[in-house]
Amino acid sequence: MAGLASMGCHAWRGRCSNHEDNSGWCLGNRMKDKNIIVGVTGGIAAYKSVELVRLILRAGAFSVKVAMTRNAARFVSPLTFRAVSGNRVIGDMWDPATEPMDHIDWAQGSDLIIIAPATANFIGKMAHGLADDFLSTLVLASTAKILVCPSMNTKMLENPSVQANLDTLRERGFTVMDPDEGELACRTEGPGRLPDPEKIVEEARTVLSEKDLSGLNVLVTAGATMEPIDPVRYITNRSSGKMGYALARVARRRGATVTLVSGPGAITPPDDVDFVRVMTSEEMREVVLEKAGRADVVIKAAAVLDYKPRKKEEYKIKKEKGSLRLELVRTPDILAELGDKKGEHGYLLVGFAAETQELVENAKDKLERKNLDMIVANDVSRSDAGFETDTNRVKILHREGHIEDLPLMTKEEVAEQVLDRIRGLWGERS
Ligand SMILES: Cc1cc2nc3c(=O)[nH]c(=O)nc-3n(C[C@H](O)[C@H](O)[C@H](O)COP(=O)(O)O)c2cc1C
Repeated sequence: MAGLASMGCHAWRGRCSNHEDNSGWCLGNRMKDKNIIVGVTGGIAAYKSVELVRLILRAGAFSVKVAMTRNAARFVSPLTFRAVSGNRVIGDMWDPATEPMDHIDWAQGSDLIIIAPATANFIGKMAHGLADDFLSTLVLASTAKILVCPSMNTKMLENPSVQANLDTLRERGFTVMDPDEGELACRTEGPGRLPDPEKIVEEARTVLSEKDLSGLNVLVTAGATMEPIDPVRYITNRSSGKMGYALARVARRRGATVTLVSGPGAITPPDDVDFVRVMTSEEMREVVLEKAGRADVVIKAAAVLDYKPRKKEEYKIKKEKGSLRLELVRTPDILAELGDKKGEHGYLLVGFAAETQELVENAKDKLERKNLDMIVANDVSRSDAGFETDTNRVKILHREGHIEDLPLMTKEEVAEQVLDRIRGLWGERS
């Protein structure tokens, strides 16, 4: 059993003055309200940082400012960054257009500085405390979190000087992202590629998140299961897995150790989670029951099929005149089994109910019958909630009878809400 870090938002029953949006609901550890600086240095991957700036703004940051080295401006025009960020771009401390104290004001007004791409040269400068241009001076003057995204030729990356400099930065509390492996601009293969902007944004969210779930082992299930009819056909349902993946991503950002068991689907699993792909309900059951023994919290967001064909035909069923009768039998009730074993293992058990009618009554019934600690109910007949959408409108039903009606939110925001409440329940228990 894990104890929790004492940081974080304690408004797990809803309202909080630190993180709330206009609706008054705590939306947790998001990028919202954050001032972010993207420091671009003179590497070939500088063009990817244009997309990075766009994505950070789309993720809800309050502002993104771009600081560039002189050599970065040889790769991408400052004008491009100015247009995308909506802010002036600084490269030269001595330019009359730069205010004398910009390096201090920018440094102290930022929550996070992302150096992307970070050249070998600039990494060396940061590691040795040099301040001979605007960006390096800004880094020295800042107490913000710093995320470094090295990108260079593999031999440069492997050079002991560069590695020693990266170690120094890590020791000083900088977060250093591992570069991706693949084809490099110098037409060689190996590690050194700047990770995709989406990955950098995810890492930035992780750096910004309070680690209030560290110490917790969280098992999340996601997506639909799939039951074969014959070698080419199957039955499934419309669950995309977005809600479960959002829960896994947010729990990981907040420091939990996460296992994600997912049905088939196209969503890329988050890095640094124990990811298991399954297909059928029986496979899901096997993996989940095995993993649940080590979990502190089990969140069943998967839409496991209730029925499957009695048998999978060995050969493709040939098209014939007339109708075809398919006999369906019940699949295992994984949630009920988890509920039965709760006493033995001691995990918190959270379920989801996707309903098209009598949402609260059906969810309440499920909460009780399956021995859950909490259930998140959503009306999947709405166009802005439930399957496939990026948003959700849920009600959270607590064991003692309290029901919360949450406004429309993104699935990540719902995940923050659900995890806030889990954190509260775990805190009460320990
Ligand atoms: C075409 C070209 C591509 C370069 N790409 C990289 C790179 O990806 N990573 C790197 O560390 N250096 C790269 N360099 C070398 C840097 O531009 C050089 O070390 C420069 O001094 C870095 O300056 P800065 O760190 O102040 O931006 C490249 C140089 C050239 C000419």
